[in-house]
Amino acid sequence: MTSGSDAAATRAAELRELLEYHLYRYHVLDDPEISDAEYDRLFDDLVRVEQEHPELQTPDSPTVRVGAPPAPGFRKVAHLRPMGSLDKVTDDAGLAKWADDVRKRLGTDEAVAYVTEPKIDGSAVSLVYEGGVLVRGATRGDGERGEDVTANLKTVKAVPLRLRSPDGETPPPVLEVRGELYMPLSSFRRLNERLAAEGKKTAPNPRNAAAGSLRQLNPAITAQRELSIWFYGVGHYEGVEFDSQDGILAWLRERGFRTNPFTERHDSIESVARVCSEWERRRIDLDYEIDGIVIKVDSLDQQARLGALHGRPRWARAFKWAPMTAQTTLRRVHVRVGRTGALNPWAELEPVEVGGVTVSTATLHNEEDINRKDIREGDTVIVQRAGDVIPQVVGPVLPHPPGSEPFRMPAKCPLCGADVVKPEGEVMHRCPNRACPSRGLETLIHWVQAAMDIEGVGEQFVRRLWELGLLRSLPDLYRLTAEQLVELEGYGALSAAKAVESIVRSKERPFHRVLFGLNIPQVGWVTAANLARHFGDVERLAGAAQEEIEEVEGVGPDRAEAIGEWFADEENRRLVDELRALGLRFETGEELRPVEGPLSGRTYVITGTLERFSREEAKAALEAKGARVAESVSRKTAGVIAGESPGSKLAKAQRAGVPVLSEDDLLELVAGAGSTDD
Ligand code: IVH
Repeated sequence: MTSGSDAAATRAAELRELLEYHLYRYHVLDDPEISDAEYDRLFDDLVRVEQEHPELQTPDSPTVRVGAPPAPGFRKVAHLRPMGSLDKVTDDAGLAKWADDVRKRLGTDEAVAYVTEPKIDGSAVSLVYEGGVLVRGATRGDGERGEDVTANLKTVKAVPLRLRSPDGETPPPVLEVRGELYMPLSSFRRLNERLAAEGKKTAPNPRNAAAGSLRQLNPAITAQRELSIWFYGVGHYEGVEFDSQDGILAWLRERGFRTNPFTERHDSIESVARVCSEWERRRIDLDYEIDGIVIKVDSLDQQARLGALHGRPRWARAFKWAPMTAQTTLRRVHVRVGRTGALNPWAELEPVEVGGVTVSTATLHNEEDINRKDIREGDTVIVQRAGDVIPQVVGPVLPHPPGSEPFRMPAKCPLCGADVVKPEGEVMHRCPNRACPSRGLETLIHWVQAAMDIEGVGEQFVRRLWELGLLRSLPDLYRLTAEQLVELEGYGALSAAKAVESIVRSKERPFHRVLFGLNIPQVGWVTAANLARHFGDVERLAGAAQEEIEEVEGVGPDRAEAIGEWFADEENRRLVDELRALGLRFETGEELRPVEGPLSGRTYVITGTLERFSREEAKAALEAKGARVAESVSRKTAGVIAGESPGSKLAKAQRAGVPVLSEDDLLELVAGAGSTDD
């Protein structure tokens, strides 16, 4: 062996190991370290090495497989037909070359029609329908075997649980349908706002958010995520016949499957090329991310004759655009103090165009993240625009400019000068001063924008009145008068009256929005709603013991403690009293009040796996009878319903002397009590 191919062998082994590692980070841990573009580059390198030295290709090379094994936690299931992947082209020349190859293989005098579909950047899933009923949903996994995520997929409203039967048609005995699950950009932004407000790790992009939501062990969490799906094909099927991709999509649409409206059929590859370049510009108008266009030969007969190589069909290609990244200079790192006192670093950039939008600022998360990526002022950096409106700095292009230094968080709060702290176990630095202007100002902005959504009263309004000293606290907002506003430039009698009127109208907003607006640490939208539902009014919440707060869905010991501490504070209680006196709502209204029923006033806890109910079904059935379902056991728990392999909650129930109920007891509870004829 020459030394040249020795080097190639070493490189191939190295690339294989790297690719395996990054696949694992991506598929199993849901926590990728590199971008797809970087991954693709490594992958392409390996393909090149293996093409030059075919003897180096091993049967387990990432180039002959399409994913990583499923993570533990879900049952693995074999797909009825493997889920392959697509070879890509990146320009018109690549597209023309593929079309030539197709023509040569089929015979040059044969007409070829193509179908183009947006390539949705989400998570591929396979759904099996038996006799028209959804029996199983799975992730793609390694292409042969995926994870059984039926319970989670059933929570996605766009997934049909049953096929529609036009003209009373008998559904096919078996049908595997494939699609791409995704999170709309608007939902993705909302999710990240919520995660950030709750002090949790945000999702880097909509694809991760969708994949992560799909693989939640608790389907109730998946259900809270706003996921959707576009269906694009079938796998195995019996009792039905198709002759074209276009025909499959039309058939699916008629049976209730969401298919993408921007699908088109073409008689020439030139027309395909036009669509591919057109969508590179148009994609920013969509409420979901696409990373290319999928092109498929329309005729199924032609598809069959073309066949596939290593699970990659010769009859299809993905036209992929350059990723939405760009390089620019990082001018300065600034630090903003958020409404909870967290110090948020952000980048001021030399303006640059990324995917059709000019970008001049980007988030930098926290000090640890900046230093892990080694981002410094003056660096040339790679900026990426994902689904979020706020672009991200991926990393520096080395070397750093001479004399540059690693980033350090300021030791003093840039607003009030207090010594900055970094609580143990947290990544964020904080200003501990509760009187810091950031708190009041940011809380007011959060209140008018996110929590109360007061029409015509936004960030600018708040900042202006803050600077004038007219607004220092939430109660101040409700004491503003039209006379005060008329004094200000830009306000007439009418606009001043309107602003005051919409502020007054915000007093009608429900209790959980008020709770969210109060800026209690770790209380985001969902927790606020759960607290409001559970306690019913602020008195009960403020007087609750930590143990009781922990009963609330999604509230662990840390969060319960933070909530307890907030209400224990004199000043906060005064704030609540003052807002209540001003007419804001501190009682749960109809919208969240539990149903009245024979089980009203009783709280149950469910542990282990039930046979005849899913968790959510059991919860819903109990709540329909007026009961509450809590996450943890306390002395007040009316009963613990224990299924197969119950967790520590069972032991806790036994210690606390709380009755333990079986699944049969549960059936009796929800069936007997409250049926209409008793
Ligand atoms: S067809 C043999 N159509 O892209 C594979 N895929 O690498 C046939 N995707 O895993 C796939 N939109 O997750 C197809 N309209 C579309 C698609 C699409 C997104 C994803 C899918 C697949 C990957 C292909």
